[in-house]
Amino acid sequence: MLAKVYSAAIVGLKAQPVEVEIDLSGGLYAFHIVGLPDTAVNESKERVSSAIKNSGVSSPQHSRRRLIVNLAPADLKKEGPAYDLPIAVAFLLASSQINIDNPEDKLFVGELSLEGRLRRVNGILPIALMAKEEKFQTLFVPKENATEAALIKGLEVIPVESLRQLISHLKGGELIPSSQPAEISQFHQETAPLANMAYIKGQEQAKRALEIAAAGGHNVLMHGPPGAGKTLLARSFPSVLPPLTIEEALEVTRIFSVAGRLPNNQPLVTTCPFRTPHHTASAISLIGGGSYPRPGEITLAHRGVLFLDEFPEFSRQVLESLRQPLEDGVITVSRASGSLTFPAKFILIGAMNPCPCGKLGDPEQQCTCPPAQVSKYQRKISGPLLDRIDLHIEVPRLTYDKLSPQKIAESSDSIRKRIQKAREVQGKRFLTEKNIITNSEMDLAQIKKHCRIDLASQSLLRSAMTQLHLSARSYYRLIKIARTIADLANEKDIQSTHFAEAIQYRPKQEEV
Ligand SMILES: Nc1ncnc2c1ncn2[C@@H]1O[C@H](COP(=O)(O)OP(=O)(O)OP(=O)(O)O)[C@@H](O)[C@H]1O
Ligand SMILES: [Mg+2]
Repeated sequence: MLAKVYSAAIVGLKAQPVEVEIDLSGGLYAFHIVGLPDTAVNESKERVSSAIKNSGVSSPQHSRRRLIVNLAPADLKKEGPAYDLPIAVAFLLASSQINIDNPEDKLFVGELSLEGRLRRVNGILPIALMAKEEKFQTLFVPKENATEAALIKGLEVIPVESLRQLISHLKGGELIPSSQPAEISQFHQETAPLANMAYIKGQEQAKRALEIAAAGGHNVLMHGPPGAGKTLLARSFPSVLPPLTIEEALEVTRIFSVAGRLPNNQPLVTTCPFRTPHHTASAISLIGGGSYPRPGEITLAHRGVLFLDEFPEFSRQVLESLRQPLEDGVITVSRASGSLTFPAKFILIGAMNPCPCGKLGDPEQQCTCPPAQVSKYQRKISGPLLDRIDLHIEVPRLTYDKLSPQKIAESSDSIRKRIQKAREVQGKRFLTEKNIITNSEMDLAQIKKHCRIDLASQSLLRSAMTQLHLSARSYYRLIKIARTIADLANEKDIQSTHFAEAIQYRPKQEEV
């Protein structure tokens, strides 16, 4: 007997339909899976057999027949345990233990436990999107994944708790009620930020630069001695970021869903991602890849922040691999099986000490590092990488006066309001442009269109170019920062004062 049901495979961040065919034939008992299965798919034989046995129906071993499962298309690698459910359903269908009307408009995904309960799987959001696009009517998913699937309208989502329950449903016994469509806005709420800029004393210049970075989506590098508050500032940064819009939330949720990072009770990511990989991270974990390419930290930070603390401690190769995604906003991972592109538009925040002992440049303390060690430390970050960082800021050691308890700083809420206004200005500006949200994403044509440079600013830029030896890239990045500063000031045209402030954030010549 032959049976066929449908399931899905994740390729990059997209899903694609997979046919699960089963042929039951006479002969000695055997259970084979073909169609490029990985170990988890191959092990599904054991889970499926036990789950069926423990669900009150006749299992493959019991039927004593030869069983071949084919996962098509055969040239696509299949991975993960999500094929357990479709394989079990196809077996029950082939052995005439259940009957399904129109199996071609139903899609099954889910991992089975030995006793037949369904476990959550990754990538349900892209699977539900694909199911809708490919005109499937019903999606059977583990109950824990149901709310995530129900974010996609126009698809019947059946939350399945156990194989036994599904068998009864398919046999016309006790029907499983389908999930209510989930309203995206219902999950789209602001969560209280954990940190608050109000607790950070002094460091006004750094806070101002972070405000510009948040408003326009620019990259930042903080230099300063140990204990000055660099890590503290970066960790408080998400508290000034506006919440994601609904489109951004869906975009980010899709990435988190595929990476298996969605929290159980929160089917939609609504706050900006903030990723803080350790400096021992490998290039693959940062950039993405692997034999089944997975999104890396830079993709998980998409529409959010990638914070690299102790910047020069990262391996040089890892840091250099950031160059292309910082420029293009996407990362293309090439493997023998083909290449995949993941989105990677993030704000990079780096933090570093000026030298290994951290005292270099301190007016009151003497640096004890040998000059060769200082230059080795600073050389870890290449010129091209520094060139891609828009805002370079000093975070100096604080004096007692700055730290005194009487000083109260501005709260994150009030800073965020200004940022939100600047984002609204940018939203209006880019209304007709596709897929661009902040000033940092402007291309040359958009810079020309939206950034008029008056005569006074032109002469300022000319002297900055010669004195700071700016590259063409830095020049355009400077204009984008000036645009953001003007937006924060709610000015239609960029003025020379805005350029003057933007120039301050370029690195001093000796750093490059
Ligand atoms: N500006 C500040 N206002 C209030 N507390 C601060 C400030 N700067 C530092 N601190 C206190 O010092 C601690 C250490 O700061 P932080 O970890 O941010 O330093 P850092 O600049 O990252 O140092 P390192 O270079 O060693 O990583 C903070 O947890 C906080 O308690
Ligand atoms: Mg630190």
